[in-house]
Amino acid sequence: MRFGPFTVLSELDLEVRAGEVHAIIGPNGAGKTTLLHVLAGDLLPSAGRIRFDGKDITFVPMYRRARLGLGRSYQIARLFPGVTCQQALQLALQRDSPARDWLSRGRCRLLAERALSMLETAGMAQCAHQETTSLSHGLQKQLEIVLALANEPRLLLLDEPMAGMSASERIELGARIRLLAARQTIVLVDHDIEMVMSIADRISVMHNGRIVVEGSPSEVRASRIAQAIYLGAANA
Ligand SMILES: Nc1ncnc2c1ncn2[C@@H]1O[C@H](COP(=O)(O)OP(=O)(O)O)[C@@H](O)[C@H]1O
Ligand SMILES: [Mg+2]
Repeated sequence: MRFGPFTVLSELDLEVRAGEVHAIIGPNGAGKTTLLHVLAGDLLPSAGRIRFDGKDITFVPMYRRARLGLGRSYQIARLFPGVTCQQALQLALQRDSPARDWLSRGRCRLLAERALSMLETAGMAQCAHQETTSLSHGLQKQLEIVLALANEPRLLLLDEPMAGMSASERIELGARIRLLAARQTIVLVDHDIEMVMSIADRISVMHNGRIVVEGSPSEVRASRIAQAIYLGAANA
């Protein structure tokens, strides 16, 4: 991925296996967010290929990638303002309804119930009637994940879902991500190394736009390169 004269991702080779929680760690500016943008279709890469389930999706627009089963959340939550959490989720759940059903009362009630039950599952029932952008930063990020789940993604890309959360919120979300992993493949970018080590099946360490180390949490922990680039610095 190039931006004018700046090459932000280069010679990057990442394989995410179905069913795994694959964490991507690396210092600020390594290119983690840019990588998720390229995978989700927010950005079209300057060169290279992206395959999803064997299908080349390099030039497939974002909304169609979503239909194929790619979901994501953002480093800084992007929510519709002016609606409640339940309404936002209803809107997301509505995507499969034919337009003629959108105003049907029965259909609306059904979706409202489903929205509420999804919020309950996420431990956010108390937020159902609050306006999306009035939530705390941590809850906005959690809501974004619930919204992505409305699309029933097979691959979920999470960009620093735990940033700005309290320690207890992080533990709770970590456990939830592990639960989600039973149904979807997850790519997780986060700086909370201990959390990442405890929930990831595999970890890729990024530095200067490429992946420099990849392996199981214990392999990455033992890697001198990973330590020098990131783990050491994070501990210091
Ligand atoms: N639109 C852009 N134009 C120019 N440079 C960008 C753009 N987006 C990101 N970058 C640069 O790409 C590098 C990687 O950024 P980013 O992907 O946000 O890193 P990370 O998420 O790992 O912190 C940074 O040096 C950043 O300044
Ligand atoms: Mg980032």
